Amino acid sequence: MGRHEVKLSQSAGRAPLKILQLSDFHASPVVSLSFISKAIRLGLEEKPDLICLTGDFITHKFDGFAEYKKVLQPLAESAPVFACLGNHDGGLWAARRRGYADTGLVRDLLEASNVKLLHNTAQTASINGWNLTLVGLGDLWAKEIQPLNAFPQPPSAAAAATTLVLSHNPDTKEQLQEFAWDLMLCGHTHGGQLKLPFLGTPFAPVEDMGFVEGLHHWDGRWIHITRGVGNLHGVRFNCPPEVSLLTLV
Ligand SMILES: [Fe+2]
Repeated sequence: MGRHEVKLSQSAGRAPLKILQLSDFHASPVVSLSFISKAIRLGLEEKPDLICLTGDFITHKFDGFAEYKKVLQPLAESAPVFACLGNHDGGLWAARRRGYADTGLVRDLLEASNVKLLHNTAQTASINGWNLTLVGLGDLWAKEIQPLNAFPQPPSAAAAATTLVLSHNPDTKEQLQEFAWDLMLCGHTHGGQLKLPFLGTPFAPVEDMGFVEGLHHWDGRWIHITRGVGNLHGVRFNCPPEVSLLTLV
């Protein structure tokens, strides 16, 4: 369990808001649904107010969607659940790597599990006295990211709210810099998956190696990158899976 407190100016007079972030399940021959289910149970024990899933539900093609739905369903029975997609969930990038050419099957999975997908769109939610705007982006590597469509227009519409962004890849931060938001939730890096003595995380699939995991203050706002639950190739070294709990205070 990775825990962070996120200090926001809008918190005055409000009770803390607990956000469970889960990412990069990567259901596949090397990450079983029972392992994913265990991570979900661990997260739900924290009794979150809101749940955000930040992409890569599968790794390649996957044939257990009916069972996968049952694994995800307890999330929406506990709290409102929002999601964005990752590069492995289908589309241009995945089609060239034994994945799906489109995101239809993962979208169907989320809908059947009562998870609200935010794909270049935003939704407001009022939870425990917090007025939230949740903005979800399409994936960077899938060439699906469309911030102009995703963020509410005019921007003043969101100014009074706390704006949370779901964006799979932390390298998207510069593209989103001109928009107003408070906290961005990312995955994608798996924390680098291999952390080596002296070398750090040479294999993290991002350009900005300063944003591989953890909570970062950036340009007057916050970015959180979770190491995520699953993995690629069955390999993690010195870099354990992570269920993340962010408390807005
Ligand atoms: Fe991933």
